[in-house]
Amino acid sequence: MNALLLAGGLGTRLKPLTETLPKPMALIANRPWLEHVIVHLKKQGIQNFVIAVKHHPEKIQNHFGNGEKWGITIQYAMEDSLKGTAGAIKNAERYLDDRFIVVNADIVHEIDLNPLLEFHRKHGGNVTIGLTEVDDPTQYGVVQQDGAGRILRFVEKPRLEEAPSRRINAGIYVMEKKVLSFIPPDREVSIERETFPLLITRNAGVYGKVISGYWMDMGTKDRYRRIHWDVLNRVNNLPIPGKESGKGIWLGKNCDIGPGVLLIPPVLIGDNVVIGERSIIGPFSVIGNDCVIGRNVRCSETIMWDRCKINDATHLSNCIFGYDLEMGSKHILHEAVMNRMGVLQA
Ligand code: GDD
Ligand code: MG
Repeated sequence: MNALLLAGGLGTRLKPLTETLPKPMALIANRPWLEHVIVHLKKQGIQNFVIAVKHHPEKIQNHFGNGEKWGITIQYAMEDSLKGTAGAIKNAERYLDDRFIVVNADIVHEIDLNPLLEFHRKHGGNVTIGLTEVDDPTQYGVVQQDGAGRILRFVEKPRLEEAPSRRINAGIYVMEKKVLSFIPPDREVSIERETFPLLITRNAGVYGKVISGYWMDMGTKDRYRRIHWDVLNRVNNLPIPGKESGKGIWLGKNCDIGPGVLLIPPVLIGDNVVIGERSIIGPFSVIGNDCVIGRNVRCSETIMWDRCKINDATHLSNCIFGYDLEMGSKHILHEAVMNRMGVLQA
């Protein structure tokens, strides 16, 4: 059984971070999320991966290659135009085993696959959708089930009054390859709006199973930040690099922390970071590897990726900065989401 990771979307709601980067390559605790997913699934016994790519595929291919470094194999299914979530699966058909797993690669999760697989084997249907429960289901695919877990209705992003429940599609499926015959080739097809409703109408055996453990879609800026605060608060068990040098202060290798610097937990500082004297970092900040922070900088509730440079006396709160951003001195920024030079990322 292999796993197909859907990683080709445009990541529109996370722009400009995703302007030239596939959303699943966004850093979570200083590591591309896609790498976390692959490591997590490998621990659960998945050895062979297929990644469905379209938007800046080279960023994924250059990072992972054939997967050798991670002790796995990776094949890439490239779309010539965006094929949608079902079209991407159809496009990867030749690489898929008779039973396979599909994962929306922008879902930050720590899911145990075993209960899902066991349930799938027991009901003998064609699809098992991992489900989770949320307060506001309007941004997700919402399901209605019978007592045996069979899905009777699947409604993508309904209005609140039309949502049949608060149980939503967690973006993880176990599928039998034969259902791919329901997906027309060579055009854009949404699994949520077209394929699942069709399979349900045809009584093709679509089931849902509530999964446990941390789950969050990283697709908006608010949720992207929230995931980080959850990591720092240890609401989930995602690995945090570096050494915990005080409660809630994680410090990478080879950092140069100037005199009078205050690190207010929780805070994560990457490797080779320089922080100038009297700067105050935290609470809730994640500083990428090789960042250089000047003197008298204040930085709270902010995430910056590798190689950012923040000059003296700049104040940041609630910001997200992509790779290589340079910020002048004495700026005051609140809720800025930026890439290098405030425009595009190389
Ligand atoms: N290869 C490829 N091609 N990948 C795609 C395409 C495509 O045309 N379109 C989307 N994807 C990938 C995205 O990169 C992402 O990893 C995943 O498919 C889901 O797409 P999103 O755009 O993030 O969808 P969503 O978050 O609005 O909704 C989906 O996820 C929810 C769970 O977070 C749906 O599956 C919902 O039903 C679900 O509840
Ligand atoms: Mg999403």
